[in-house]
Amino acid sequence: AAVVEHTFHVGNLTVRRLCQSRVITAVNGRLPGPTIDVHEGDTVVVHVINDSPYNITIHWHGIFQILSAWADGPSMITQCPIQPGNSYTYKFKITGQEGTLWWHAHSSVLRETVYGGLIIRPRQGTKAYPFSKPDEEVPILLGEWWNANIVDLATQAFLTGDAMNVSDAYTINGKTGDLYPCSTEDIYELEVETGKTYLLRIINAALDNQLFFKIAGHRFTVVAVDASYTKPYKTDVIVIAPGQTVDALMVADATPASYYMAALPYISTTSPRPPVDNTTTTGIVLYKSASPSSQPVMPTMPSFFDNDAAFRFYSNLTGLCRPGDRTVPLHVDERMFVTVGLGRVACQPGQVLCNQTAGALAASMNNASFQLPTTMSILQAHYEGVEGVYTADFPDEPPVFFDFTNASDPSLQYLMFTSKSTKVKRLKYNTTVEMVLQDTAILGIESHPMHIHSFNFFVVAQGFGNYDQATAEKTYNLVDPQQRNTIAVPTGGWAVIRFTANNPGVWIMHCHFDSHLLLGLATAFEVDNGPTPESTLPPPPPDYPTC
Ligand code: C2O
Repeated sequence: AAVVEHTFHVGNLTVRRLCQSRVITAVNGRLPGPTIDVHEGDTVVVHVINDSPYNITIHWHGIFQILSAWADGPSMITQCPIQPGNSYTYKFKITGQEGTLWWHAHSSVLRETVYGGLIIRPRQGTKAYPFSKPDEEVPILLGEWWNANIVDLATQAFLTGDAMNVSDAYTINGKTGDLYPCSTEDIYELEVETGKTYLLRIINAALDNQLFFKIAGHRFTVVAVDASYTKPYKTDVIVIAPGQTVDALMVADATPASYYMAALPYISTTSPRPPVDNTTTTGIVLYKSASPSSQPVMPTMPSFFDNDAAFRFYSNLTGLCRPGDRTVPLHVDERMFVTVGLGRVACQPGQVLCNQTAGALAASMNNASFQLPTTMSILQAHYEGVEGVYTADFPDEPPVFFDFTNASDPSLQYLMFTSKSTKVKRLKYNTTVEMVLQDTAILGIESHPMHIHSFNFFVVAQGFGNYDQATAEKTYNLVDPQQRNTIAVPTGGWAVIRFTANNPGVWIMHCHFDSHLLLGLATAFEVDNGPTPESTLPPPPPDYPTC
């Protein structure tokens, strides 16, 4: 196994998009940032040097981080941010996972432009892909773009207690595609050869939107999601939530010509949010033998609101289950029922433009709206036994059960108002957890992409409406469920996940819509050390940032 070393210089970069110049925060002067390419078993060392004007952290999305919680990255959960002019070295080993993951900033909203791929190939010399070897591999990073400075927009949203402005464009590998103004040259092109097979490693790095992705004239065979192999699944549309990845094979078997690849948002919310016109990002798939004059063919895209297409894709995937693979826990130690949704809180200190009567927009899990600590990270407080930074009383169920997805249920009002706190759920090492995630209609139903750090989970069931244990249990897949690190809970519905807390440390769970994370749609798991040195978190590295 190798040691793969990178240096990330985080700094300002001026780029032109949509007819104007903007200064963004970027790694090594590139958008997207560098791809980290490793084999299972390797050790990754990344020196992050912060030359930007902002506090920053980097998170390695989906990496298990076995015994390396100090390197996980979420700001104020596992570390204080790296301040301007400072640096921090992230060091972790890749164990027991392969496929497509990614890295991104995990402080403020900087991941808009601070992100890149993290590709894990099978362990050197021992294993191959569980599907026929592709001729080429192609990272496809889907992103989102704002014309204004994103940190200023987030600050403004905080001061007023309102939602953040919607984005101005979507991107493919950092480019908007040619359907936007002044953008004819700003388009990603993939050249293909007839008969060859391409492994597309698709990553949704967008801040606040799930996306539909298609390529005209071509179908996909999905072989992995979130760096977990799936049984081959054929589809002509891919649905992908922020945080998720999809590995899909595409055979260049169409008439040699030029074809658009395209992505547009899947909008699951019922609250009024008019889709703007220019919502489709494009790239080009160009056959080498195509005539130079061929005009690209556009795929027929699903509608923004196609809940059925989204549910079909998300619920039809199953795990590959090879001998020796992790299997779904059949015994459950801890059961949790967790509501996810929006709400309101009293205006917070510093929200100087907030309407005192209406309060501020918020988001919560089980009516607790998560507040990041300010003095030290939760992990450091946990490790040193410092009190007053967080409390270990995250509730196992909501304060009331009611008709969660019925917008006219009077109990919604009761759960509308939440308050801020820093409540975590404490777990013994190796506890198996079953969690029901239930969407609510408070301020509109919506499909929230829920992500857990360190632990991949098995998706054992999902459905629409209110979760009902007796009927739901009949549909549990305990044989070959898909494994994920991020699940889009069906809009106005529920999902059941199971995982084993097999890694000591503090691990955030949150909605991967960045604006919802900022509003408090999060909690964290505090996982104790196990009985042996192999289950004990080592001390922090010497350059661990303090606040
Ligand atoms: Cu990709 Cu906590 O995030």
